[in-house]
Amino acid sequence: MIILRTGRFAIRQQKLLTDLVSPRQPKPWLQPLHLESSFFITSIRLFSRTTVNFVSYKTQKMTTHRGLVLGVYDPIKEDVSKCGEADIVGTPAFQDFNTKFKGALGKTLINTGYFNGKMKRGKVRIFHGVDDAYTTIVVVGLGSKQAGVNELEQWDEGRENVRVAAAAAIRQLQEISCTEAELDTFGDDEAAAEGSFLQMYSFDELKHPDKRKQAISLRPLEKSRNGEWDSGVLLAEGQNYVRTLMETPSNLKLPPVLAERIAKDLSSVPNLTVTIRDEQWAEQKGMGALLSVSHGSSVPARLLEISYKGCGGDDYHAIVVGKGITFDTGGISLKPAANMDLMRGDMGGAACTAGALLTVAKLKLPINLLGLLPIAENMPGSTATRPGDVVRAMNGKTIQIDNTDAEGRLILADALCYAQEFKSKFIVDLATLTGAIRIALGGAAAGVFTNNTKAWQLMLQSSIRTGDRVWRMPLFKTYADKMTDCHLADINNIGGAGLGGSCTAAGFLSEFIKKDTKWMHMDIAGVSENKEEVPYLRKGFTGRPLRTLVQFVQQLEKETL
Ligand code: BES
Ligand code: ZN
Ligand code: ZN
Repeated sequence: MIILRTGRFAIRQQKLLTDLVSPRQPKPWLQPLHLESSFFITSIRLFSRTTVNFVSYKTQKMTTHRGLVLGVYDPIKEDVSKCGEADIVGTPAFQDFNTKFKGALGKTLINTGYFNGKMKRGKVRIFHGVDDAYTTIVVVGLGSKQAGVNELEQWDEGRENVRVAAAAAIRQLQEISCTEAELDTFGDDEAAAEGSFLQMYSFDELKHPDKRKQAISLRPLEKSRNGEWDSGVLLAEGQNYVRTLMETPSNLKLPPVLAERIAKDLSSVPNLTVTIRDEQWAEQKGMGALLSVSHGSSVPARLLEISYKGCGGDDYHAIVVGKGITFDTGGISLKPAANMDLMRGDMGGAACTAGALLTVAKLKLPINLLGLLPIAENMPGSTATRPGDVVRAMNGKTIQIDNTDAEGRLILADALCYAQEFKSKFIVDLATLTGAIRIALGGAAAGVFTNNTKAWQLMLQSSIRTGDRVWRMPLFKTYADKMTDCHLADINNIGGAGLGGSCTAAGFLSEFIKKDTKWMHMDIAGVSENKEEVPYLRKGFTGRPLRTLVQFVQQLEKETL
């Protein structure tokens, strides 16, 4: 066993060892690191800045790098000075392996600050070469063992801790090029699978294969009960599908191309049927609002209908409508240049709708669900809508378009009118609709506007389970009044002084909802991108709130609204 000490000495030692270990030379003197003798050691790295250090090694021939993830909770005892190994609060799997290794894991945890608060949720310790079956063991902090629903935070902290911990351990294993791993699921298979598979995702299909992140072939340490691991994987994969569609550059997802791509991806899944509507169809339907947006682009709009029949009957339990602007320049009301590239994700509502249909079908949920995706590009071409132009929506209402950058509500207006031609219990729309919702809620929660309190409660409960949070916003009449106060037409597409922009946008949409229709609008502009709010999602588009939406439609079937 090679033991290295800390501090400057350790750094010198590391350099020395790296100097010594020139490539392509067998190093028999390093054999205790349980490598087969035919392997070549090419580099050595030190981990941990505290008293006990472990050495990692890279080899040229090693192809299977097998990891194991175990978890420990925060210590429970208050007087930590008297604590010993027996007081470490580990998962059953951690305890088993610690016993197998004669307490080696526990000793290291204590030496590296477990009782001094240095092993908080998401913190990891890495062990190399302590077991024959695994090249690396990662022990990760899980937070408090008592964690449950936190009302103020509005989420189930226990489940969220599992996602965060699983993701932290996986991130560590990916960093050291682990190829396969077994995961202690910390008592929640579904959340552990979600955290792991969301963490492993990165959009690198357009990069050279050498630059792509390698996924780890992952399985639960113990066989999953009730298919929970599998459902967690499907939910994460559904969310990752949304991320892929959102990240895809706009030149590769022009409206007809995006429509075809989603149709191709989904139509092979049992019980899903996809129909693509073109502009001629939209014209016949009187969708002047949708067409007013695509007219500024040389590429025509599409409306995608995705039907999932998971149970008998023709009626739908829910219809999901998703804003699908493949790129939002703002049109003639052109956006500023800074960060305009992010407007490739302005089809996040449509992507989330497609992802939800896909996930619901793969989970084989016993519901009927319809997805409607109006898809268009908002460009300032010579045939673009001018500020002050008036168009007519499908329900006959005229709209004065004073700002062509408020285009999402226009395509949604027609799609919502169309949605009300079908029989369904509930309509929910998702849209990256306003910058104002980002100002109000940041990335913490999606803004929810609804005329049905029962549906709100259901959505809230769903989000507590998924950790992908929502916050209720008002649908006061005063907001809609600001939009209907219009010089040339029945309704204006922007409201007065520009205050409460998310609420006036929702007020605009409500003008296209019939009196008895049960409806919810989710403004997802704030949650669609991750800076560092969600620890188990890398930076970039998030695919939120896919898991909450799937949970919601699943519960909707059981409830009367
Ligand atoms: N797509 C944007 C909203 C958006 C902003 C999404 C930032 C994601 C990140 C939408 O079409 C828009 O431009 N809204 C305007 C409305 C305004 C002109 C009334 C906005 O929010 O500024
Ligand atoms: Zn816009
Ligand atoms: Zn937009």
